[in-house]
Amino acid sequence: MKRAKIIGVGAYAPKRVLTNDDLEKMVQTSDEWIVQRTGIRERRIADPSEATSDLALRAAQQALERAGVEPGEIDLIVVGTTTGDMAFPTVGNIIQHRLGCRNAGSTDVYAACSGSIYSLSIGSQYIQTGKYRTVLCIGAECLSRITDYTDRGTCILLADAAGAAVLRASDDESGILDTDLYSDGRYWELLYQPAGGSRNPATHETVDKRMHYARMKGNELFKVAVRMFEDCAQRILQRNGLTADDLTVFVPHQANLRIIEAAAKRLKLPMGRVFVNVDRYGNTGAASVYVALEEAWATKRVSAGDLVLLAAFGGGFTWGAALIRW
Ligand code: UT7
Repeated sequence: MKRAKIIGVGAYAPKRVLTNDDLEKMVQTSDEWIVQRTGIRERRIADPSEATSDLALRAAQQALERAGVEPGEIDLIVVGTTTGDMAFPTVGNIIQHRLGCRNAGSTDVYAACSGSIYSLSIGSQYIQTGKYRTVLCIGAECLSRITDYTDRGTCILLADAAGAAVLRASDDESGILDTDLYSDGRYWELLYQPAGGSRNPATHETVDKRMHYARMKGNELFKVAVRMFEDCAQRILQRNGLTADDLTVFVPHQANLRIIEAAAKRLKLPMGRVFVNVDRYGNTGAASVYVALEEAWATKRVSAGDLVLLAAFGGGFTWGAALIRW
């Protein structure tokens, strides 16, 4: 079987920075509380003129340029997002047109923050089976558009960004070694957006009741997340005959520094081998793992031959992991 190799990564974060000090003026909170409980110091917020596909396009262009791949060579575009530009068409479709990927199929994957791992896994399967040679995987969000800036439990966390990876069929030992996807719908009420779909279509009432914003039971989600994070990391390592000791770097979903630290502790992985940028970007949903991976690569925390573990969890509940020999 072929192996999917990441041959280019890209990322884009909007220019506007929203700091903890800014949030202190909006809701009852403090820089101290936010830093202590989440590790977040600032996050990026898209300009009103920007939508998710605008961020995705920038990240994708950078990834293609670094990979030295022309848009016409892309066979498939898979975008992880929960905040598409509109209900349809998909962000994938918009990107296909704007990049000029004339030979590509395109779709969005809807798995909340795990959309990063879900999109990467789906892209990689199409290469492994030999169906496609080049796949563009993207994670992109404008979570600020579904954030209630009167709810201090969520507005301190959520933010906007996009990341991308170009996958190409390869015959050598490096590439995506394995991926795992999981879900458990029992936990859907821990994080969801009540209105805007077929259950509660948009009405004046849904708007008045603030039902188009994400609702979260943060504390319960926290506990499930740590457990699932550890579980999926252990399982993928074990199945591949590896342990956490073998990892060069763990690039987790950047939701909360305490969740990352708790998972690392359970994996007996020193924080020196865990990549963290939640302090500067907050939780960017399906973009987060791609954005972190791009920074890990750009700062040489990841280079040829390294063993890299990616893992994410999100609303749904969804979670998953990917193991990569860079
Ligand atoms: O990608 C997946 C998305 N979501 C997540 O990963 C979120 C996971 N959960 C978390 O990150 C944390 O649960 C939070 C950061 C959301 C909250 O931290 P916590 O340590 O779990 O706090 P808590 O919800 O148990 O609340 C403790 C107290 C409460 O006050 P009382 O009831 O003890 O008086 C909250 O009302 O902290 C209060 N609180 C705040 N105080 C200041 C909640 N949010 C804030 C805030 N500033 N922003």
